Amino acid sequence: MNTTKAATTPTATPAAAAPGPKGSPLLGSLGPWRRNTAEFLLGLQRDYGEMVRMRLGPMTAHQVTGPDAVRRVLVENNANYVRGPLYEQFGVVMGKGLLTTDGEFWRGHRRAVQPVFLKNAVSDIVPNIVGATNEMLDEWEAKAARDEPVDLMTEMLRLTLVTLSRSLFAYDIKPAAPVLKQIVDDVVEVMFRRGTPSEMLPSWLPTARQRKIAHIHQVFDKVVADVRKNYARTGEGPLIALMEQAKDPATGEPWTDQQLRDELLTIYLAGHETTAVSLCWTLLSIANHPHVQAELDEEVSGVLGGGTPDADTAAGLTYTQMVVDESLRMYPPIWIFPRAAVGPDALDGYDIEAGSSILLSPLASHHNPRHWDNPVAFDPYRFTPQAVRERPRMAYFPFGAGPRQCVGNSMALLELRIIVAMINQRFKINLIPGEALQYGSPVISLRPLRDVMVRLRSREEKAGTVSTVNRSRESAARGGRGARTAESACPYSPESA
Ligand code: HEM
Repeated sequence: MNTTKAATTPTATPAAAAPGPKGSPLLGSLGPWRRNTAEFLLGLQRDYGEMVRMRLGPMTAHQVTGPDAVRRVLVENNANYVRGPLYEQFGVVMGKGLLTTDGEFWRGHRRAVQPVFLKNAVSDIVPNIVGATNEMLDEWEAKAARDEPVDLMTEMLRLTLVTLSRSLFAYDIKPAAPVLKQIVDDVVEVMFRRGTPSEMLPSWLPTARQRKIAHIHQVFDKVVADVRKNYARTGEGPLIALMEQAKDPATGEPWTDQQLRDELLTIYLAGHETTAVSLCWTLLSIANHPHVQAELDEEVSGVLGGGTPDADTAAGLTYTQMVVDESLRMYPPIWIFPRAAVGPDALDGYDIEAGSSILLSPLASHHNPRHWDNPVAFDPYRFTPQAVRERPRMAYFPFGAGPRQCVGNSMALLELRIIVAMINQRFKINLIPGEALQYGSPVISLRPLRDVMVRLRSREEKAGTVSTVNRSRESAARGGRGARTAESACPYSPESA
């Protein structure tokens, strides 16, 4: 864990500043960063390579995509790289939880929750995943019979929220799912509208932003109170049980109400949106690649027959797992995450000054042509055991790495594998030819550019004619997510593959 002393700076060769764009005298590269961050980061790697130095306003930052340097930051010398100022915005909403803290406080909390997320423990949640997915698919049968369009992202957000809540807290959150979807949108908005005049006003002034933050906390206080009440009554819920019993290592006292609220909020927010985004991309990628669909059909009917998955059969869905892995490569939901260098270091032979920011970008690393042949093509065979062995481990890190690796990664992979197989078993999703799938301008997670409406046909009725209806215009008229994301001509969209 994060106990290693920061390794000393290698001194064998005198280091130099990494290459990178000059940008404007005042703002550096803040302009292109804000216009389309994903495209900007991919362009930096293309134009300058695996270590790129840039200025973002007053801040010096390095995009690091070479596997050795990524390993040094996240694993070998992780003690030198802390969350830093770019993570501060998360704290505005999430308070002091696993995502936002460092040092002893973080270590105590990570130790407390970890047992529930270990690979063996996670297989206990299979019945919850299967149950929640079947409920959704039964509703889909009715919608398909009425030929009613389905908003894929909303459906996936609800499914992953319900699964997480039942699995970790034994609490049925389904009735609150629509409210929480709005809350997630509000979270994104308040965390990422930096530098607006309202943000600079004192926090006790009732600005629209402060009112939104207060509302988010109000809603989550109620969720936390309900989860705790439910646990007091039933004694069920593996994660809430650990949290209620946890002791603060500094004081030996139980976690305070505030600590419990912050950690629950962190798990709910970090755990469901990411998985939903990945499900959405995976389903759309399958629909876009008929040969992948065919191979998936063969595996699902071979392994599951007509039945539902259990822990053993889920482990046999190896091609499905490769599809999920490839989707996480092309569309890593956490497309970028930062660190701050505590002391000086050298990465790939370039100087890193104390205090400078490091940007780890799974999106750019996963499109690095040095390690990914034709990176814009969707190809699950990049993830055969042999192909994985032959590639540097840190060319691929959708869940991060080292002591701060995603605590929920086994849970997410299990959910993804089972849900993708079960949806595929009962429904077919086809895209209307010519509909482009593109990255939206990403904020927290890398969502598709537009809301994706799908029309479903049950496989039992007839081999599917399922259409997607691009809703960007209606969404824009409603001020929805499609309206907020900039039109992107990202060269890495699957359509350009
Ligand atoms: C496809 C789904 C997911 C993806 C792509 C993902 C990605 C990530 C990444 C990249 C990090 C590391 C961030 C960093 O090092 O700065 C992270 C951390 C974290 N994730 Fe996930 N995650 C997913 C699902 C989940 C789930 C299901 C949960 C919980 C139920 C979860 C909870 C967390 C927490 C609490 C952290 C902070 C861990 C720590 O610092 O100790 N995530 N996630």
